[in-house]
Amino acid sequence: GYPGKCPECGSWGTFVEETDIPVIKDVQIPDNCPPMKLNEIEMNSEIRMSTNISEFDRVLGSGIVQGSLILIAGDPGIGKSTILLQTSGELCKNNKKVLYVSAEESAGQIKLRAERLGVKSDNLYIYPQTNLELIKKHIEEMKPDLVIVDSIQAVYTSAIQSSAGSVSQIRECCNTLMQIAKTQNISIIVIGHVTKEGNIAGPKVLEHMVDTVIQFEGDKYKSYRILRSIKNRFGNTSEVGIFEMGSKGLTEVINPSELFLKEYNQTQTPGSTIIVTSEGTRPLLVEIQALVGTTPYPAPRRVANGVDTGRVLQILAVLEKRIGLNLSKQDVYVNVIGGIDVNEPAADLGIALAIVTCVRDVVFDSHTAIVGEIGLSGEIRAVNHIERRITEAQKLGFKRIIIPAANEIQENIEGIEVIKVKKIL
Ligand code: TYD
Ligand code: MG
Repeated sequence: GYPGKCPECGSWGTFVEETDIPVIKDVQIPDNCPPMKLNEIEMNSEIRMSTNISEFDRVLGSGIVQGSLILIAGDPGIGKSTILLQTSGELCKNNKKVLYVSAEESAGQIKLRAERLGVKSDNLYIYPQTNLELIKKHIEEMKPDLVIVDSIQAVYTSAIQSSAGSVSQIRECCNTLMQIAKTQNISIIVIGHVTKEGNIAGPKVLEHMVDTVIQFEGDKYKSYRILRSIKNRFGNTSEVGIFEMGSKGLTEVINPSELFLKEYNQTQTPGSTIIVTSEGTRPLLVEIQALVGTTPYPAPRRVANGVDTGRVLQILAVLEKRIGLNLSKQDVYVNVIGGIDVNEPAADLGIALAIVTCVRDVVFDSHTAIVGEIGLSGEIRAVNHIERRITEAQKLGFKRIIIPAANEIQENIEGIEVIKVKKIL
């Protein structure tokens, strides 16, 4: 048996068996690319294919790069098959040939989904198949512009014996697909399910192998979905695209801040603030709520949803030390409304003010947005993309915005009062 605990990282039950992959002896490795001088390398700018879905294009870095291998990872049921079938439909409208390999669902099931989404085209081929050698054969014969493999966990190569979905199968299949993409200059999108138990046989093992990793997130109980690029050899990372899942598939959300603030004006209670977070190149306004109350427990609870708990603990420590807010007998809950994750320190000041207004039982001005990172000595530190954030707040009708004094503003933004702050007092 395996040891239960990993001697390296200390986690339990993470061991996975890997059997040796037989070495194929008679492969010819073509030596057609000797080392060359940097100065002599010619740049040929990569060719990109637009998906016709601007939110998706932006996350990819303005379209799909020819010959690239892209991984789209996400929880089962989040909408990966849906968005890729829609994307296939759009590409076909531009006369691209698409091969959709369905390793999980039958052709009939795909047809049903396509009907629902209104996807129909003579250029779209559906191929229900799990064997990679057969998939490879058809890619080579057909030479499509784009191949979609749905999903990597369901395909297998006959070259190795372990079952589909195992680490070695996933890795080997991904390798083969990478070779096909590079040698034949065909773009391939691979779908990967995030597994419940810590990604062991999931997309994590693939992340370093592919060119681009896009994560598909969202609350299954809410209608919107977020595409986020977390690795991109051909563009920016942390770019997001926002969609809404409806009865006819996913539609782009053009003005996401409006979506996230939909419920805001009706619910003004102490402990709620609006921050301007920046996702990739795009600013987003989201509401932060805090609830502070006397704890029945010996150790007070700190619960954070959508923001890092460690960050909240740090903010609490600063508030305690710098303004003498005593929270040692209080439970503190912090929520980001709308289910989006906010992972940047620029949210600090908004979180702090949500906590403070809740403790003091006052309503924070609903026309004021907040940005700023809080340092350990209580100073408000500069944030990036300040102009963009101010403009977004102004566009959505905010009258004032609190920003770090340390931020220089190059151009004046009309229609919004900018309040600069230096320190938490
Ligand atoms: P799906 O794309 O099959 O998810 P994944 O491939 O990531 O597992 O989407 C599954 C969910 O999406 C399913 O619960 C039904 C819902 N859905 C809609 O709400 N509207 C639609 O038009 C479609 C096609 C699916
Ligand atoms: Mg699916």
